[in-house]
Amino acid sequence: MDVIGRCRELATVSEEAGALTRPFATPAMARANALVAGWMEEAGLSTRTDAAGNLVGRMSGPDVEARTLLLGSHLDTVRDAGAYDGPLGVLAAIACVEELRARDITLPFAVDVYGFADEEGLRYGTAYLGSRAVAGTFEPELFALADADGVHLRDALTAFGGDPVGMASAARPDALGYLEVHIEQGPVLERAGRPLGVVSAIDGQTRAHVVFTGEAGHAGTVPMGARRDAACALAEFVLAVEEAGRAAPALVATVGRLTASPGAPNSIAGEATASLDVRHPDDAVREAATTALLERATAIGAARDVAVLWEPRMDAPAVAMDPRLVAALAEAAEGAPLLPSGAGHDAVALAAAMPVGMLFVRCAGGVSHAPGESVDPADVDAAVDVLVRAVCALAD
Ligand code: HGY
Ligand code: MN
Ligand code: MN
Repeated sequence: MDVIGRCRELATVSEEAGALTRPFATPAMARANALVAGWMEEAGLSTRTDAAGNLVGRMSGPDVEARTLLLGSHLDTVRDAGAYDGPLGVLAAIACVEELRARDITLPFAVDVYGFADEEGLRYGTAYLGSRAVAGTFEPELFALADADGVHLRDALTAFGGDPVGMASAARPDALGYLEVHIEQGPVLERAGRPLGVVSAIDGQTRAHVVFTGEAGHAGTVPMGARRDAACALAEFVLAVEEAGRAAPALVATVGRLTASPGAPNSIAGEATASLDVRHPDDAVREAATTALLERATAIGAARDVAVLWEPRMDAPAVAMDPRLVAALAEAAEGAPLLPSGAGHDAVALAAAMPVGMLFVRCAGGVSHAPGESVDPADVDAAVDVLVRAVCALAD
């Protein structure tokens, strides 16, 4: 199967003209699910969409009692995304099933390929909505989250054809485990000259939304000493986040989305908002850095008489991959290096309910979350081959 060609075709399915932006429960997501469901059916999988909006393609097991190995990745994207973050893993999993059928391999378990509904969290600021439902850890209070247009998560999912009331039906207590193929999204494999890597652990991740509220006013008439400029408080906070990220090895801290309103050149910003993303392999280090930034934001607000609202959005612990799945992947990938993941993945959410393992594929320049994402066809073929061998090894 032409995995790369299909990733490129899928990359044209977007909410935004001229860029790939495919948020949770949007019409573009519905079109993407339909396109991938067609490919799943060509591979002999029966398809369905679960209560959370995840696309599921099933290859039945030897009998109804058989448990299920989950494969896949996510079909949603960030804004102005590349073609491979997510879809590569879904299409590699479909190619793996095709190969198992072509070799007439029967497994002692069923295989379900997932196209998860929301790994990035672009629309509602909190990630893993689909995989949390599969892990049985979806918190109902998430239904009340509103997107930039004020659409609540519950309503968006209902309109998409999901089933908020029946969310628990998405859980998979029958799952044996989960294997995900994903681009590395970093430069390590390319620098090592290696096509594939086996993930050892995934960094913990904190997300928050911070709102600074000062006083809007006329840029021409309000003296500098009389201002409560929310944009200036925000600017100080952004640099404090960068400083915090630099304070400890392996710590990263990012403000990726900023707003200032009313957003007129001749108006002082009365309100300014910032996204916050803090990650580290050690949860204690991540939590300490986050607490220090909350204190910094509070101090900045106090010094400027600007109110600060800190809205936690996500607190995902660092996750170690399952040793047996790591061993199966390492054996199948014949000495591929072990490496940690700074990027989050659906495997983080699923680890709460099942053993998880991940295989990384080299990507050019480590570029990701940008249109320049690219992979080498030979590396993708190698990844599918390793996935097939790992699944067969698990069957044995
Ligand atoms: O943000 C991440 O780490 C992932 O790409 N969602
Ligand atoms: Mn991803
Ligand atoms: Mn991503």
